[in-house]
Amino acid sequence: MKKLIPGFLLLTLFASCVGGVPDKKEVKNKNANTDREYRILKEAYKEYFYIGAAVKLGEYDSTPFYQTYSEDVLKNFNSFTAENGMKPENIYREDGSFDFTYGDRLVDYALKHNAVVRGHTLVWHNQSKTLFSKDMDKEAAKTLLKNYIQNVAGHFKGKIYAWDVVNEAVGDGSQWRTSSPWYKYYSGPEYIRDAFIFAKETDPDALLFYNDYNMVNSSKRARVVKMIKDLDLISAGLDGVGIQAHWNLYWPSKSDIEQAIKTFADMGLKIHITELDIDCYSGNSLTKEIDYTARLEQQLAERYAEIFSVFRKYSQYIDSVSFWGISDKDSWLNYFSGGRTFDKERKNYPLLFDREGAAKEAFFAVSAF
Ligand code: XIL
Repeated sequence: MKKLIPGFLLLTLFASCVGGVPDKKEVKNKNANTDREYRILKEAYKEYFYIGAAVKLGEYDSTPFYQTYSEDVLKNFNSFTAENGMKPENIYREDGSFDFTYGDRLVDYALKHNAVVRGHTLVWHNQSKTLFSKDMDKEAAKTLLKNYIQNVAGHFKGKIYAWDVVNEAVGDGSQWRTSSPWYKYYSGPEYIRDAFIFAKETDPDALLFYNDYNMVNSSKRARVVKMIKDLDLISAGLDGVGIQAHWNLYWPSKSDIEQAIKTFADMGLKIHITELDIDCYSGNSLTKEIDYTARLEQQLAERYAEIFSVFRKYSQYIDSVSFWGISDKDSWLNYFSGGRTFDKERKNYPLLFDREGAAKEAFFAVSAF
């Protein structure tokens, strides 16, 4: 990939200004509820960054994404992340054996479709219960961490180009997530540095990321910066930060996003936007189900247009933008908002494709620029 002078864009712009050649990259979206034409996202953003999506692979009785979505939808993406299939509890068995079924499925699909895979995630406090089945001291935890990373990053070596090595290790109101079993076993945050060292040793060519939410918030961001410096993570192998981007219709502001990008770019780090979605309830977990009105459809489209204008502006620092899901139907935000999980679905509308897999206004807003 890259990106210095998006020459074809300039040409296309020039041609369309003088009423010249149509953009050959425009194709019909057979799935769309309108006859409008659009540019395939990965083509439109070829000179900017990868366009990715988190996908289901059969874990937790889900249907693998390639059986849910048509090629017309999937061809928009050139990067994929396992939404859940590569988290520790779906890879590691309590007897110490490994099961790579879901990750292998994704790598297989990506290879055949000329796409890359982001690995998510090696070290996290959630969805890792098989690693945390018994209490242990620091030495035992270090051995387990090393064994896990060596096996997983080793298995996918050369097939996964970027890893979220550590996910959400910084606290929301304090420096560390002290409730993480890794933190407890280690009696401190050194597991974070160890994880990068083990990942780097195992797959020196993979790009290694620290991934977290709310990094557009200045105090959370300051804690992440402090972690990177205090634990000297760059010398341990850190290449970049994953900004999750679970955002909403009103938050964060353009300048919050710009500040986050600039801070990490100034540290010489790469930036991936890893889990983009827009909560249409804007973090309000108490509101009853809303209707998806034409007004909301438009508001979401404008919000996406605004966000992508920032991403394009800073594309020299951003190598990948991934949505957390493909259509509204399979978004985790139907069951989660503002830090609360629901037992019953509350329909949300955070993504570019609707429940039937048709492109929404937000899709056209992202694809046309
Ligand atoms: C979420 C998945 O989307 C859900 O299906 C699952 O039940 C919980 O995890 N931050 C992350 C992701 O890094 O792994 C989370 O994914 C969303 C928040």
